Amino acid sequence: MARGAYIESGGRQYEGNVTAFVLITCFVAAMGGLLFGYDLGITGGVTSMEPFLVKFFPVVYQQMLDDSSTNQYCKFDNQLLTLFTSSLYLAALIASFFAATTSRLFGRKPSMFLGGLFFLVGALLNGFAVNVEMLIIGRIFLGFGVGYCNQSVPIYLSEMAPAKIRGALNIGFQMMITIGILGANLINYATSKYKNGWRVSLGVGAVPAVLLCVGSLFLEETPNSLIERGQHVKAKTMLQKIRGTNNVDEEYQDLVDASEAASKVENPWKNITRRRYRPQLTFCSFIPFFQQLTGINVIMFYAPVLFTILGFGNDASLMSAVITGGVNVIATLIVVGIMIGMKFGLNGEGSFNKGEADILLVFICLYVAAFAWSWGPLGWLVPSEICSLEVRPAGQAINVAINMFFTFGIAQVFLSLLCHFKFGLFFFFAAWVLVMTIFIAFLLPETKNVPVEEMHYVWKSHWFWNKYMPECEDLVAGAYNNSEAAPSN
Ligand code: BGC
Repeated sequence: MARGAYIESGGRQYEGNVTAFVLITCFVAAMGGLLFGYDLGITGGVTSMEPFLVKFFPVVYQQMLDDSSTNQYCKFDNQLLTLFTSSLYLAALIASFFAATTSRLFGRKPSMFLGGLFFLVGALLNGFAVNVEMLIIGRIFLGFGVGYCNQSVPIYLSEMAPAKIRGALNIGFQMMITIGILGANLINYATSKYKNGWRVSLGVGAVPAVLLCVGSLFLEETPNSLIERGQHVKAKTMLQKIRGTNNVDEEYQDLVDASEAASKVENPWKNITRRRYRPQLTFCSFIPFFQQLTGINVIMFYAPVLFTILGFGNDASLMSAVITGGVNVIATLIVVGIMIGMKFGLNGEGSFNKGEADILLVFICLYVAAFAWSWGPLGWLVPSEICSLEVRPAGQAINVAINMFFTFGIAQVFLSLLCHFKFGLFFFFAAWVLVMTIFIAFLLPETKNVPVEEMHYVWKSHWFWNKYMPECEDLVAGAYNNSEAAPSN
């Protein structure tokens, strides 16, 4: 097909249907998001539970009791406590690089399985913790689990899905994240009434972990990964199965071409820094950075603490977290609904009074909803689909690592920044939202309907990125090797 026609038509269309097999497979894989979500939602609530603080952070607890200041902004500013929350994200950051190698050499499935296993060990260590050491080691295992899952699941979904519903299927990951968060908020609400309730909150993380471990044993590997590891016959059979037709020759050939080109790459990490991968490197780095600078995790982690600051009682604070968690799920669900619908048609000092606090809650809900409609799902979808095979695991690892780094950073410094910048901090996040909106509007091309292994045409036809692209024929002919006559690095 002529290149221009290809771009105008929104991409090459392969034959194939949306099969029940692919839908079930993607549903099981997306459960990886539950793990991440569960942890995001559980931590803030647990660290606001008195018996937990008394047992593991008595100094922090005492400090809170002794704090007679009326400055609400600084009430919870304690580095040790925030380190408990944020340490997991550092572990996830490191694990995502190992996960990239596991996914490339052994496939996406083993990465998901390992993710579930690490998370299981972490949840058990935390649920049965008798000292801070057990708690922290558990957090590190949980972090490894999140790193492995977040690296492999979005890639898995983007590779399995037919191009025309890739967005909808990939959003399943975000959907599971939000369900995990809401589930955790509800469990915290229930367990906070009991002395050892925090054990249940932390230990229940084992449930999504077991679901993922068992689920991943039944999953099939993606055709892209099978071809990448030389299992061509199996890959073709798999492609026929997931597309529900025997006529997959064209798509299969494109996957083989992409894989041959990828196999010539000696070092995927070095490769992604080359000039021709500038758009991929840019988006895999900036999307997670911007996603976190929306400030979403201020709400996800600290909603109970924030609501306490705003004058809600303890119980009401946990309940409000449940409300924001619920909005997150519903708003994400609506996105999925719209996408499927479009595709298939019919087929400082003082406190707020109650009224003001309710209005604020409505605004926070609007904000969470806006996130769930935009940066939430797209933060995981876009990086997983824009990288060609040879740099995909590396690109996704960069995405996860940067995401985790800023998740860590925000978890770690938010309470302290709030203490110093007061309400100005919210304007800080608002300014970032403006910057990222402009960035995306001008620089991110539409990827809808374009098969993942055909994405280079999209860059080639973009007003800004085209100058970084060598001729498309070079790309398709497998000129990814390091000796090619590509534009200078
Ligand atoms: C983000 C998380 C966030 C969650 C909220 C995810 O996409 O990566 O940091 O807590 O969305 O729904």
